[in-house]
Amino acid sequence: MAFFVLPLVLLLSMASPATSCNKQEKTSLLQFLAELSHEDGVTVPWRDSMDCCEWEGVTCNASGAVIEVSLTSRSLEGTISPSLGKLTGLLCLNLSYNSLSGGLPSELMSSGEFPSTVWENTRNLGVINASNNSFQEWIPSSFCISSSSFFEVLDLSYNQFSGSTPPGIDNCSALRVLKAGHNNLSGSLPDELFNATSLQYLSFPDNSLHGLLDGAHLMKLKNLVNLDLGGSTLNDKIPNSIGQLKRLEELHLDNNNMTGELLSALSNCTYIITIDLKNNNFSGELQKSELFQPAQSKSIGSSIQQLNWHNSRNHLFMQLLAYLIALWLSGNNLHGQLSLRISNLKSLIFLSIGDNKFTNITNILHILKNCKSLTTLFIGANFKGEAMPEDEMIDGFQNLRALSISECSLSGKIPLWLSKLKTLEMFLQRNQLSGPIPAWIKNLTSLFHLDLSYNNLAGEIPIALMEMPMLTTDLTANHSVFELLVYLGHSFQYQIISTSPKTLDLSHNNFTGAIPQEIGQLKLLAKLNFSFNSLSREIPKQLGNLTNLQVLDLSSNHLTGAIPLAQNNLHFLSKFNVSHNDLEGPIPSVGQVSTFPSSSFDGDPKLCGIMVAKLCGLAEAPPVSVPSTEKMIKRVSFVIAFGALFGVGVLYDRIVLSRYFG
Ligand SMILES: *[C@@H]1O[C@H](CO)[C@@H](O)[C@H](O)[C@H]1NC(C)=O
Ligand SMILES: *[C@@H]1O[C@H](CO)[C@@H](O)[C@H](O)[C@H]1NC(C)=O
Ligand SMILES: *[C@@H]1O[C@H](CO)[C@@H](O)[C@H](O)[C@H]1NC(C)=O
Ligand SMILES: *[C@@H]1O[C@H](CO)[C@@H](O)[C@H](O)[C@H]1NC(C)=O
Ligand SMILES: *[C@@H]1O[C@H](CO)[C@@H](O)[C@H](O)[C@H]1NC(C)=O
Ligand SMILES: *[C@@H]1O[C@H](CO)[C@@H](O)[C@H](O)[C@H]1NC(C)=O
Ligand SMILES: *[C@@H]1O[C@H](CO)[C@@H](O)[C@H](O)[C@H]1NC(C)=O
Ligand SMILES: *[C@@H]1O[C@H](CO)[C@@H](O)[C@H](O)[C@H]1NC(C)=O
Ligand SMILES: *[C@@H]1O[C@H](CO)[C@@H](O)[C@H](O)[C@H]1NC(C)=O
Ligand SMILES: *[C@@H]1O[C@H](CO)[C@@H](O)[C@H](O)[C@H]1NC(C)=O
Ligand SMILES: *[C@@H]1O[C@H](CO)[C@@H](O)[C@H](O)[C@H]1NC(C)=O
Ligand SMILES: *[C@@H]1O[C@H](CO)[C@@H](O)[C@H](O)[C@H]1NC(C)=O
Repeated sequence: MAFFVLPLVLLLSMASPATSCNKQEKTSLLQFLAELSHEDGVTVPWRDSMDCCEWEGVTCNASGAVIEVSLTSRSLEGTISPSLGKLTGLLCLNLSYNSLSGGLPSELMSSGEFPSTVWENTRNLGVINASNNSFQEWIPSSFCISSSSFFEVLDLSYNQFSGSTPPGIDNCSALRVLKAGHNNLSGSLPDELFNATSLQYLSFPDNSLHGLLDGAHLMKLKNLVNLDLGGSTLNDKIPNSIGQLKRLEELHLDNNNMTGELLSALSNCTYIITIDLKNNNFSGELQKSELFQPAQSKSIGSSIQQLNWHNSRNHLFMQLLAYLIALWLSGNNLHGQLSLRISNLKSLIFLSIGDNKFTNITNILHILKNCKSLTTLFIGANFKGEAMPEDEMIDGFQNLRALSISECSLSGKIPLWLSKLKTLEMFLQRNQLSGPIPAWIKNLTSLFHLDLSYNNLAGEIPIALMEMPMLTTDLTANHSVFELLVYLGHSFQYQIISTSPKTLDLSHNNFTGAIPQEIGQLKLLAKLNFSFNSLSREIPKQLGNLTNLQVLDLSSNHLTGAIPLAQNNLHFLSKFNVSHNDLEGPIPSVGQVSTFPSSSFDGDPKLCGIMVAKLCGLAEAPPVSVPSTEKMIKRVSFVIAFGALFGVGVLYDRIVLSRYFG
């Protein structure tokens, strides 16, 4: 997107398109058009109509001067012609959502003489948003000299800028927002950047910056509210001076190569809401981490000297990190146990400490159960080889909605304390648990995503599982929607996921016996995976009643008999696998099941049909039915709905399902 919003909103409202444009401006516009390598035809009328003020996307003021050119989402390609600089009255140029490339012509920056009276009479607004294009060349280094007094927002993210940061940035004395994430920036952060001391929002995620974060420089940006330098190769420690950024609310230094222990200085950032340090090399013992200790200096204040040491420490701690909502520490080298003080983080909603070297899962659960706001907890890939705590005293977790304790090789059984987590909606648990699935599983009345895959669970699939309230009845209407702190790029926001797929995954276990006929009750289920078990007997025909199924995987079991799904309502099914069983008879040649490739049926030598290039005897021919028009319409609308769903699914997977670490 490239749009330069210049601060002349008042003038724009006086615009009237009724006058005809001047000849030179018309030439400039046609020149602009000529220099695009692709224009999508919307601009053809430009060549036909005499009056450029009537052209689509062009607005003139009452005396016929072009004041706005807005050609968004037009598939425009090529470079922006400097001829636009001749539109001396241009106030707004919006070329967002195109595929323009090259540089921003310097002529644009000096577009006309900015009428000084206007600057004097309007508030100091100045925005350049050139995000999401293919620009490679920086805007001219002089741009802040002419516009430094009003220039507040520069968004250059999602382009192909390389080298260091935009030159001349230190002269942008009013710059509040600087975003240049998702480019190819390299080198270390230039000193001059830290002279733009009005910056509140400094966001450079996903570049190739390296070097260290200089403490003396950083502390100059006293107005910083949001600092995002994630996704580069910054190394060394977080400087202590970060504690002087008193307004800091969000800190993203994730996916770098930073080291050291977590600093007490961070707890000086009183208003901090998010700390994202995941995927670095931070080390140390979180229990002893200074981050969760009150800064020494604070406890020595004379007014509190009389207080008992313990009380004052606790009291002070309550004020520290009091607003912290999200803490990502996954993918580091932290070890030891968790500090008891973490349970004082009363605002904490999202905690991800997965993929470290923490020990004593019992201790961690005991501590975190007291975090009253906690909704999302990812602690997987720690506690290697410990036992799942069976301790019945683990309660609390009043608001826990998503819990992942995967990939810890935990032994033991599915613990009884889980039955008390009435708010639990997602439970992800890949370990080495053994024993059966307990019947109380249906007591988890909010649970709609149950992943018990890759364990050693055994026994029959319990009927109780077919009575899970969230999978059998449409409770979504009166059930509070699932809000999850969704990680979007290098920021996060609350996302309401009421449409996330309802999942039952028992794959890679040792379940035996038949698939219960009661499975037909799980009417809301979207993903069903029973693969890699020892299930036997026939596939219940009731499966055909699970009309919301998108994924059905029964592969690698000992199922026998025919595929009973010739006539069914599985219109949403997009993945289907019954390979490596002992199934026999014809593969349905109509209906959704008939649309899957032969790999879905591999390793079932007794199956026949066109799909597996093996003719069936005539007597076995499947019944033929033609899908009604109504069904076809349903399928089309599903495709559209699925498109929308998929968007959510991707984000969802990214944080929760992609290795479960957050
Ligand atoms: C239209 O814009 C031109 C160029 O900025 C300016 O000279 C002229 O006064 C404007 N006319 C009106 C009616 O605002
Ligand atoms: C530019 O165009 C886009 C797409 O039409 C629109 O969303 C955006 O609000 C416009 N920007 C301005 C400043 O008018
Ligand atoms: C960039 O623009 C394209 C359309 O041109 C859009 O599909 C894509 O989502 C945009 N990316 C971002 C990060 O806004
Ligand atoms: C720039 O425009 C894009 C697309 O309209 C928008 O998402 C982004 O927030 C804008 N940047 C700023 C700093 O406002
Ligand atoms: C910043 O502005 C001063 C004059 O105000 C000028 O001398 C200097 O060259 C400018 N710096 C850059 C990098 O443009
Ligand atoms: C930053 O500003 C200080 C004084 O405000 C000045 O001494 C220094 O040269 C500036 N640094 C850069 C790189 O512009
Ligand atoms: C934390 O804040 C206190 C009190 O404002 C101050 O004395 C101390 O130096 C700060 N620590 C750091 C590391 O900034
Ligand atoms: C990360 O830091 C270590 C030293 O702390 C260094 O050996 C390594 O090369 C760095 N990796 C990258 C990708 O910069
Ligand atoms: C683990 O934590 C529990 C509960 O806090 C504690 O009783 C136990 O001693 C700890 N085990 C080890 C090995 O530290
Ligand atoms: C499950 O719910 C039933 C009925 O609501 C109750 O009798 C039973 O004690 C509960 N089981 C557990 C383990 O909470
Ligand atoms: C699966 O269960 C059977 C008996 O029910 C047992 O013989 C076998 O060892 C189990 N396999 C695994 C991998 O636990
Ligand atoms: C499917 O559900 C319908 C009603 O919802 C019921 O009449 C039918 O018997 C069910 N079929 C199977 C195979 O369970």
